[in-house]
Amino acid sequence: MRHPRHRGVNQDILNAARALEQGGLVAFPTETVYGLGADAENPRAVAAIYAAKGRPQDHPVIVHLAPGAELGYWASQIPPEAIALAAAFWPGPLTMILKRASNIDPAVSGGQDTIGLRCPAHPVAIALLQQFKGGRGGLAAPSANKFGNVSPTTAAHVREEFGAGGGVDMVLEGGQSEVGIESTIVDLSRLSTLGPVLLRPGQVSAAAIGQVIGRLPQAPDAAAPRASGTLASHYAPHTPVALLGTAELAEALRRLQGGTRKAALIYFSGMPPAHAAIQLPSNPDGYAHALYAALRDMDHAGADMILVETPPQGEAWLGVNDRLRRAAHGSGERVRALLASESNA
Ligand code: TXA
Ligand code: MG
Repeated sequence: MRHPRHRGVNQDILNAARALEQGGLVAFPTETVYGLGADAENPRAVAAIYAAKGRPQDHPVIVHLAPGAELGYWASQIPPEAIALAAAFWPGPLTMILKRASNIDPAVSGGQDTIGLRCPAHPVAIALLQQFKGGRGGLAAPSANKFGNVSPTTAAHVREEFGAGGGVDMVLEGGQSEVGIESTIVDLSRLSTLGPVLLRPGQVSAAAIGQVIGRLPQAPDAAAPRASGTLASHYAPHTPVALLGTAELAEALRRLQGGTRKAALIYFSGMPPAHAAIQLPSNPDGYAHALYAALRDMDHAGADMILVETPPQGEAWLGVNDRLRRAAHGSGERVRALLASESNA
């Protein structure tokens, strides 16, 4: 895991742990995206996260644990599947939903009887969790962005979201998040009735989970708990976004030539230049790693629309396509209307 080592990082981590113990909010790097952390056992600190993000109170947050943490402190039922998945993927980009232990305040799970648990792999996150309450605490941490915005993958992104007076006490530096999209979420809280349920795709695939527990997690049905990461519109830039097939994109760029509107472009195959453009790697891990920074950059490019070349389909691309669909939700039609009205149409 890459992260810049600079003088004072240990003191920063100690200061951050003390601030968290006193009920403060600290943004910290994880290998997926940056999180906005608070003591999961301090309901006032957890409420402060919701206030800073502008997020509805009934949305559950993930509790981050140090390696080797006692799962039984947080969850009331720990199926063998959970133990096997933790052994296989923790520390790493997998969140498990389990039945919440009765001693844990329902505020962290938006009042639900379950809890989301994850042990992150970033060395700064691990050091922070080991310092916080001597490694026995949990940090409630949603992604460190305002509700509905693109998740941050650098400390600079976090500062962009929460400037001075934004309610965040500290931002820990940790380089660019390696994975780049949020953790896979698997719900194991209703195994006997529903089996394992994949609530959010991520780098840990359903197939990889299935190999460990002997059952392939299914997509959620309508009865699944509300998850903000599963709202149709989420992770969205302010500029309207449309996903276009490769040929459609070439045609769109032709139409825009000599027109009045400007397009920013996110592509992976060969493309003629646009007003602003970023080429992302044509492998799913590389693409995910760079995606959110690319969306932010193109959002700042002063374009009327962001055109994204639809990535390949297939299991390895599920996480990326899921986030792009949400980024384009509700704005794809607007972009198509803009394109249709261009002079070269
Ligand atoms: O990679 C990640 O998971 C990042 C980093 C910071 O760890 N965190 C993250 O948190 O993405 P957030 O709050 O932006 O998304 C957490 C998702 C939400 O969709 C939430 O509803 C779901 O996890 N979640 C958390 N606890 C849950 C529970 N008890 N039941 C169902 N969904 C839950
Ligand atoms: Mg989020």
